[in-house]
This record gives sequence, C-alpha cells and structure tokens, in this order.
Amino acid sequence: MRIDKYISSQRTDLSRSDVKKLIRAGRVTADGLTVRSPDEKIAEDASVCVDGTAVEFKEHIYLMLNKPAGYVCSAREGASPTVYELVPPELRRKGLFPAGRLDKDTEGFVLMTDDGALAHEMLSPAKHVPKTYRVRLETPFLPEYVPLFASGMTIDGGEKCLPAELSPDPRDPLACTLILHEGKFHQVKRMFASAGNHVCYLKRLRIGGLLLDPKLPLGGCLEIMHKDVEKLLLQ
Ligand code: URA
Repeated sequence: MRIDKYISSQRTDLSRSDVKKLIRAGRVTADGLTVRSPDEKIAEDASVCVDGTAVEFKEHIYLMLNKPAGYVCSAREGASPTVYELVPPELRRKGLFPAGRLDKDTEGFVLMTDDGALAHEMLSPAKHVPKTYRVRLETPFLPEYVPLFASGMTIDGGEKCLPAELSPDPRDPLACTLILHEGKFHQVKRMFASAGNHVCYLKRLRIGGLLLDPKLPLGGCLEIMHKDVEKLLLQ
C-alpha cells in the first residue's frame, strides 16, 4: 500500500495532504528508514512512525453520527440523501455501513463502522443491548403506559416485545424516554400506536453504555475512540 494512504487511513486526525507534507519534510519512517515520497509502497507489516511515534494499526473504524431527519440509513433510496453523505471524506473507509438503522424521520445516534462482528453482536437479539430514545407524542403521556411497556407488550396483533422501560418527562407532558432491549422494525412507533398514541418526534440518544455526544450537532460525525467502543455492547 502507498505510505500516504496507509497513514491517513490510520491517523484520521491527518488529511492526505498533511501526510504528504510530513513525508516531504522527512518526518516519516518505515522500518527505521526515512520515507521520501508519498507514493512509496510499504509492506503490510511495516513499522511506520511519524516524528518517531509509531502509527497504531486500526483494523476498524467506529463513527458516531448524529443523524438529522430526512436522511436514510440505506446506501440509496430514491432521491433521499443518505447517512454516507454525512461522513467526512477523511473518515470514509471501504465497507463502512450503518449498524442498526433509524427511520428517515428519526434523529440521533447511528453507529457507522466497517466492523461486521461488532455490529452483529450489538444487534443480536440475544445480547439485548439497550437503545435509549427520546420520544414526543401527539397526545399526553399516560401513566398506564409504564406497566404496559414493562410487561412486554404485543404489537400488530401478535408480535411480542421484550419488556421496555419508559420514563415520563416531568417538564413536558408529551415527552418521555424509552429504553428498548431489541430492535424490531419501526418498533417505537408501533409500540405507541398499539398503546393508542402516535410518535411525532423520535431521537436515539444512547446505544449500550455510549451516549450521543451532546456537543455533536445534527449532521455531525466523530470517531469513537477505541477505549469507548466496548461501551457499545454494555447491557
Ligand atoms: N423505532 C422506530 O419506530 N423508529 C426508529 O427509527 C427507531 C426505533
């Protein structure tokens, strides 16, 4: 692989042109030898350093996306923009996909990764990784929803849901927080429809033990540091 491509795929804080400048300035070594040209090829197991510090090999990338309404989580769906368009070029990687989709009109935390094994574990019904949602309803929240959702309600005439935790918002009679331990199609909307209400606004706030960064604007994307990746699987 070309040395400039390798470094920019591992050091997402550096753009490809930053990397080229570092190489031309003689600040990059491969197996102890100074690299002179950005198009120089290196072996897959080469030890690469920038300013004497080893470039850590990252097998996978994990991105936290704050999806705005109007974007779809599939590769292409008619004229709608897709979540792929929200990933800045320096964070794009071959094989990147949204692990767990949100509806077009839902906002919030979408994990984009190229790690199929982690996505599989996170989405596996057997793992019960919790997902937390902020919900705003058409008509006021009723206290009787709490035991109904906690009992493992049945939706659409037969589909059984796992028990879910609901908490009303003391400041807004139309709003609540819902924690689900599975991810059925349109689940939040279908649960409230079965309870006789309608979801007007939905945002995913948390996956497992990882909270959507409150400083991340709608449409923003940031790389999840490796120490935080395991939090995605916390129950
Ligand atoms: N439940 C829904 O109904 N929609 C989503 O986008 C996510 C969960």
